Amino acid sequence: MEAITAVRGTNDLVYAQAARMLALENTLRGIAHKYGYEEIRTPVFEHTELFTRGIGEDTDIVSKEMFTFQDRGERSLTLRPEGTASMVRAFVEHHLFAERGINKIFYTGAMYRAERPQKGRYREFHQFGVEVIGSPSPLVDAEIILFNLDVFKTLGLSGLTLTINSVGCPKCNPAYLAALRETFKNDLPSLCETCRTRYDKNVLRMLDCKVESCQPILAKAPAFSDHLCDECKPHFETVKQELANAGIQFTVNPRLVRGLDYYTKTAFEISANMLGAQNAVCGGGRYDNLIGVFNNGKSFPAMGSAFGLERILLALGDAETKNTIDVFVVAFKETADKLMPTLSMLRAAGRSANADYNVSSIKSQLKTADKLGAKYTLILGPEEAAAGECMLRNMTDKTEKRVKIADAAGMIV
Ligand code: HAM
Repeated sequence: MEAITAVRGTNDLVYAQAARMLALENTLRGIAHKYGYEEIRTPVFEHTELFTRGIGEDTDIVSKEMFTFQDRGERSLTLRPEGTASMVRAFVEHHLFAERGINKIFYTGAMYRAERPQKGRYREFHQFGVEVIGSPSPLVDAEIILFNLDVFKTLGLSGLTLTINSVGCPKCNPAYLAALRETFKNDLPSLCETCRTRYDKNVLRMLDCKVESCQPILAKAPAFSDHLCDECKPHFETVKQELANAGIQFTVNPRLVRGLDYYTKTAFEISANMLGAQNAVCGGGRYDNLIGVFNNGKSFPAMGSAFGLERILLALGDAETKNTIDVFVVAFKETADKLMPTLSMLRAAGRSANADYNVSSIKSQLKTADKLGAKYTLILGPEEAAAGECMLRNMTDKTEKRVKIADAAGMIV
């Protein structure tokens, strides 16, 4: 029979890898708390319509990458490809607008996109996202970007590029879209099929095309910044000014439209230069009209971003993380009956403790203690154990002391 392996594009995190992911999540939680974010947890699957209406039918995510299935009641459900739509649903469903003026939310968990797997691009991946709902202020946009940069600074990750753009609002959008159509109207035969479809259906999406041969043509696109309205222009200027005030370097990329249709005004991405093709480690933007889609037209201004955790771990490199335990208990056949009470006593005293329940040879038990990164071994020799004592070995400096078993937990530092 053929072996059953993990599904293509998914990853097992084994031991130290899981510990690295947990450490990263904990660091992100700590920084998010500092900025006043509180957690919301939502299910990994939602009604498909949440994403088709929220993210946009013409996006790659909705048109090609969703894991959609029918449940037994023939409802169409989808594994979440991102977290913002779910946060918005939860915000509306739980009337969080009645709770506080400005809601600062963070979330973390697995997301699912049926993309072609490669290094840094998976079908199941993990995001840590933040959303600020309830403020139209450009200060929020700037703070979210600064939060993202603060995270990378704390993690010691350098070689990053911050790219920003403004994608306007429904007021300035029509004129810009008309300018795009005008620019490309004679180029259609030379553009890819997706670009041609997007030209008719959702012309802004053309700027997101990655096909090599389309790039010289798409480079002719006019900049949105030249078409921003009286509201969007000063908004973008303030965001840039706040970043400059904070001493942040950034590039304005007029073609940055991001892969989701809900954005208005600010859009940004941070990429890690060393990652190659899949180098965006986080991205986000403002979405002032999305909540209205799910709230009978009544919207709330909002802005957010999400990190790709696998990509951050890749960018940080394979720094050796070794799991450790406080103490490994070594028993002899004659003292095997003391093993469980000793482990219980150590754990009750707050120490992490483990043992070889097969009571193999002493040499093999010591080897296991080493492998598990034990800081101490507690050896239950027959003679010592008969007197209620043991040998406590410090695995770092290799010193050994004969001590009462009952006192051992207190001697482990
Ligand atoms: P996104 O740019 O689609 O934005 O995803 C955010 C991050 O998730 C990316 O920068 C990347 O690091 C990671 N990511 C995306 N797809 C994959 C994949 N297939 N494999 C590994 N990592 C991946 C969003 O999802 C928006 N919801 C962000 C946002 C929040 N905008 C406003 N609020």
